[in-house]
Amino acid sequence: MKCIRILLLALNCMAVFAGNGQVRTVDVLSEDWKFSRLKQEGAFDISFNDQSWQTVSVPHDWAIYGPFDKEIDKQVVAIEQNGEKIPTEKTGRTGSLPYIGEGWYRKEFELPYFKAGKKVILLFEGAMSEPQVYVNGKKVGTWNYGYSYFYFDITNQVMTGRKNLLAVHLANKGASSRWYPGAGLYRKVSVIVKNKESIDQWGTYITTPVVTADEAKVKIKTRVSAANSFLVTDIMDDSGKLVSKDTARKIFGNEFEQDLAVLRPRLWSPETPVLYKAVSRLYADNELKDEVSTSFGIRTISYTADKGFQLNGMTRKFKGVCLHHDLGPLGAAVSKAALRRQLRILKDMGCDAIRSSHNMPSLEQLELCDEMGFMFLAESFDEWARPKVKNGYNLYFEKDMEKDVVNLVQATRKHPSIVMWSAGNEVPDQWGFEGAKRAKRIQDIFHREDPTRPVTVGMDQVQNAMKYGFGAVLDIPGLNYRLKLYEEAYKTFPQGFLLGSETASTVSSRGVYKFPVIKAAQQQYDDHQSSSYDLEYCSWSNLPDDDFVMQDDKPWVIGEFVWTGFDYLGEPTPYDNKWPSRSSYFGINDLAGIPKDRYYLYRSRWNTQSPTLHILPHWNWSAKNRSEKGREGEVTPVFVYTSYDSAELFVNGKSMGVQKKHHATPQNRYRLMWTDVKYEPGSVKVIAFGKDGKPAAEQLMVTAGKPHHLKLEADRSAIVAYGRDISFITISIVDKDGNLCPVSDQSLQFNVKGNGTFKAVCNGDATSLEPFHLPTMKTFGGKLVVLVQSSKKAGAIELNVNGRGLKKGHLSLKAVNL
Ligand code: GAL
Repeated sequence: MKCIRILLLALNCMAVFAGNGQVRTVDVLSEDWKFSRLKQEGAFDISFNDQSWQTVSVPHDWAIYGPFDKEIDKQVVAIEQNGEKIPTEKTGRTGSLPYIGEGWYRKEFELPYFKAGKKVILLFEGAMSEPQVYVNGKKVGTWNYGYSYFYFDITNQVMTGRKNLLAVHLANKGASSRWYPGAGLYRKVSVIVKNKESIDQWGTYITTPVVTADEAKVKIKTRVSAANSFLVTDIMDDSGKLVSKDTARKIFGNEFEQDLAVLRPRLWSPETPVLYKAVSRLYADNELKDEVSTSFGIRTISYTADKGFQLNGMTRKFKGVCLHHDLGPLGAAVSKAALRRQLRILKDMGCDAIRSSHNMPSLEQLELCDEMGFMFLAESFDEWARPKVKNGYNLYFEKDMEKDVVNLVQATRKHPSIVMWSAGNEVPDQWGFEGAKRAKRIQDIFHREDPTRPVTVGMDQVQNAMKYGFGAVLDIPGLNYRLKLYEEAYKTFPQGFLLGSETASTVSSRGVYKFPVIKAAQQQYDDHQSSSYDLEYCSWSNLPDDDFVMQDDKPWVIGEFVWTGFDYLGEPTPYDNKWPSRSSYFGINDLAGIPKDRYYLYRSRWNTQSPTLHILPHWNWSAKNRSEKGREGEVTPVFVYTSYDSAELFVNGKSMGVQKKHHATPQNRYRLMWTDVKYEPGSVKVIAFGKDGKPAAEQLMVTAGKPHHLKLEADRSAIVAYGRDISFITISIVDKDGNLCPVSDQSLQFNVKGNGTFKAVCNGDATSLEPFHLPTMKTFGGKLVVLVQSSKKAGAIELNVNGRGLKKGHLSLKAVNL
């Protein structure tokens, strides 16, 4: 095993060296896994022959390669959470991808640093699901919940000087999820070799209980397994400068506690995500035994009736989004490049918070939120003891809840981004006094493991939660939708504030507009798409503007988490009874990560740094552009999502009048709408006025001509040559002047050459059954996104794209060494 310290972050191997050798190595097991979905007798055995198995790398999601098949998750059910009483046939609830069933993974690994006196930890950051883990033929442990982080001490099972065999069996039941859960070893697996005398796994717990402009008290609790030891901790600022140092010699039980002062601390916030680093060195018998480096932030949080939520003493409201864990075409297999791209897109929208609905987030996502500045609501469960789906977490709750919560909190409490825990989402246990007791029991476990952060539950049964005391028990009453009950809940609950733990659930398909333009719940159309005029929602939900009113008018509402930041696989409401349809319509961004119009509605309000001026719909409604009848002369409303208060609209140079935001309806308050514009091809121009009434910005949209060529735009044109970095290239069909052709969809073919490979493609169409991993796909609304993955060698990567009648598209990328 070759370990180069500089490359630690990106590569698979990390070692910390003491004078006389390494004290700790972390080896991420990513390459050369063997995988099979067949029932395999004795596959855990060392002598088992796995030559015919597929070779894969981990993180891996066995189900994302499809094919989509409606039979996979077809159910006849009434979804009670959606208020249904009569069972109907449902398809696509879990993405119609083959996640159900069993899978085996096998991996050989060597431990050159292992010898007597060492300890070996095998760490999983999630395994979907019910992992049974074997090392060298012996079972070392099992876990049930697919979203949990867990580890086993495998010291007694491993051998030095020869290969060790890790075998993992996974099994996913049908009717076990309300969304696409993914399948397999979808998060990292690592082996940690350290001394017997060492810092425990997740043993470093850092908080900042006192923060003033002059100094911060940094409290570090460190659990160790070592007698006769002392602990030296250095704190470094973000430039690597030593800013505090302490040696602890007294140990209580197995825990050192240190209070270090950092002078003139620079505080962590979404706007200033400053990170410090604590390096703790454990000495036993005067010899360095272990070294652990923990990045942390200095910040304070508080939640009070008079000031709401405060970060570093300043009241603010969460501008948050809920995210499921899948990454569209990558499935559940975690990818830091994909997560980073999501966060960049959300940052530009002005979003400052993420809720990991409805389970433990990936550690990669938390690292990125620390670094890029997002507050985090870390959730745990979608079910407690009472089921939503037959084989959901209810099967494990009584036995596993405590250990799942403990691992969530211990593994992640060092992250400054986490400002709240969520013990559950819309758990049916909200009914009855039993549920309130259960809520207290779980919340107490969170408090025991981390007394510094409050706990919420996203509640949908608000009346019951008021009646049975469920909502009163929680630190933070979280309401999912139910805007009409906000006022009553605020008065009834004792906390003095409310969180919109889940809001909106507005549905739309990127680039699709339906006429006449009407506000409607559960609206369906023959093409299984929803309108991007952003006026369609669910029977239980509402429009973004309705939430904005609450957020703006009620000081006791501490923010919102919109359902959802990005579309996700599964839950194709309002088409869960129609096929084909296999992914959500809720996203502010589509499944490919391309912003829908709604993105600009949120941006106009959330991004206070740069102005927003966005026109919809597209302007290609002529008979000659379309197979359907043209809209010439038909009423075609124009909406403008903007941070400006008023604007004037021109169609082919003719003024359609000035619109100003006003309070007649929630939509009038947050959108500028010209509702009786008649379509004529040509141009639509909007001129927005500043506070002084003078023109401040303008936007022009034109009717695109014939499809002519392809426009290729990479989110990053240089990616790291470590085999797993990804560039996301948005491809648009454009006319000869570069205008998007929004209704000229056609199949494109992709070819990648050089030091990279084609990884996947996605067009954001919830009804598409084309597989993500084949190098061809039809555009949707004129666009799609191609994912190109780096190889392990630095050099040029060429992406070529073909489409009939279009000039060839080409883009050069680079894979670079760190
Ligand atoms: C909520 C639920 C989410 C999702 C959403 C769709 O009630 O918590 O998981 O199902 O509805 O609107």
